[in-house]
Amino acid sequence: MAETTRFLLPESAIPTRWYNIVADLPMPPPAVLHPGTKQPVGPADLAPLFPMEIIKQEVATERFIDIPDEVLDVYRLWRPTPLHRARRFEEALGLPADVRIFYKYEGVSPAGSHKPNTAVPQAYYAKQEGVKRLATETGAGQWGSALALASSLFGLELKVYMVKISFAQKPYRRAMMETWGAQCVASPSNETAAGRAILERDPDSNGSLGIAISEAVEDAATRDDTKYALGSVLNHVLMHQTVIGQEAVEQMQMADAFPDVVVGCVGGGSNFAGLAFPFIQEKLAGKTMRVVAAEPAACPTLTRGVYAYDFGDTAQLTPLVKMHTLGHGFVPAGIHAGGLRYHGAAPLVSLLKAEEVIEAAAVKQTAAFESAVLFARSEGILPAPEASHAIRVAMDEARAAQAAGEPRTILFGLSGHGHFDLAAYDAYLSGSLQDYEHPQTEIEAALAGLPSVAE
Ligand SMILES: Cc1ncc(COP(=O)(O)O)c(C=O)c1O
Repeated sequence: MAETTRFLLPESAIPTRWYNIVADLPMPPPAVLHPGTKQPVGPADLAPLFPMEIIKQEVATERFIDIPDEVLDVYRLWRPTPLHRARRFEEALGLPADVRIFYKYEGVSPAGSHKPNTAVPQAYYAKQEGVKRLATETGAGQWGSALALASSLFGLELKVYMVKISFAQKPYRRAMMETWGAQCVASPSNETAAGRAILERDPDSNGSLGIAISEAVEDAATRDDTKYALGSVLNHVLMHQTVIGQEAVEQMQMADAFPDVVVGCVGGGSNFAGLAFPFIQEKLAGKTMRVVAAEPAACPTLTRGVYAYDFGDTAQLTPLVKMHTLGHGFVPAGIHAGGLRYHGAAPLVSLLKAEEVIEAAAVKQTAAFESAVLFARSEGILPAPEASHAIRVAMDEARAAQAAGEPRTILFGLSGHGHFDLAAYDAYLSGSLQDYEHPQTEIEAALAGLPSVAE
């Protein structure tokens, strides 16, 4: 009989609970601080921005939280997602039989990535609480598309501030959001005080996630009918994504395997956490395994940033969170993995890195695209540039195992497809794609702007 390539779960196996890693951490996560008083924030501080149920989930300490039926109903449109054994990719790499690569594919969602896993519950809870309109930012356009889909399913208006360089690189993402009924503007825009202040200083600004977040937060904070939704970084977002890892744990069992290494790309950290946290639960309970976060060399938050309190946005509107950061004023180079251009990383991912539960590796974009093309030519799927960073690290892991003559089972997250990223593939294939690494002086200059917080 032919060996299985895709490990598929029935609809009845969609997880009915989200996993909250906070319950299993050896220490409580550092408090989130008010930007003015530098005291821990309470629900009342966050209420103008988020629905109350989301605020409760953000500070929840129970291990599991039930997924509402209405959310499960929408998840059924594409979940469970497949787990693939990358047989043809392994063959293309010339790997021995005991070095195996698996990937969990989230590109089968209607928006093309893992982002709807959290967009759907965020839109659902907003609707439940009588909210009429949402505001958000988007880097690559994947999050904006996901929230546009979710908003349309629950009958909410949506305004998306899209990082200007991505707006230019990916016009069809905007058309996709508009098809689902959202309104999308390039950020920095003239529509907010934060955007106007940036444009005054730098009329040609490429924008960044930090700037777009400032605009979306200002939009939500200044309108009674609007709440803000964030596509990564925060605890509740990471928790919603754990449907990925919970399914993957079962699917690896179907394959009669357990990963020695789990790899995910990190922008803010949500797809990485979603895949890795249910495995890290086993690691914290004593299982031997490694977990590697793949980030771009051009925005090296976990490998070159510091673990400190910082703002989540450029205009200093958000609370202060303790995370790996390059400084809220850091504007990363205009690389094509727009979803990985964020100055910070999720506090929970940062804490696990600081505690050495996880590792991080930085990947140059030409190396990421080289792996993406090899992957597309063997597995068929054209990966998102963000996910290609994880492919590269998985490939390097496989080659290292082969060179050492060791068996290794590698699982990586393929967080989305790259059908809207063909301009980037074009640039790579024509040889015009460039690598960029920020000089240390530039990183130090941005870090000099970190707020001072007594710890
Ligand atoms: C396909 C894809 N992967 C990864 C990311 C990075 O986000 P996160 O680190 O929250 O998963 C993005 C962000 O837009 C994305 O579109």
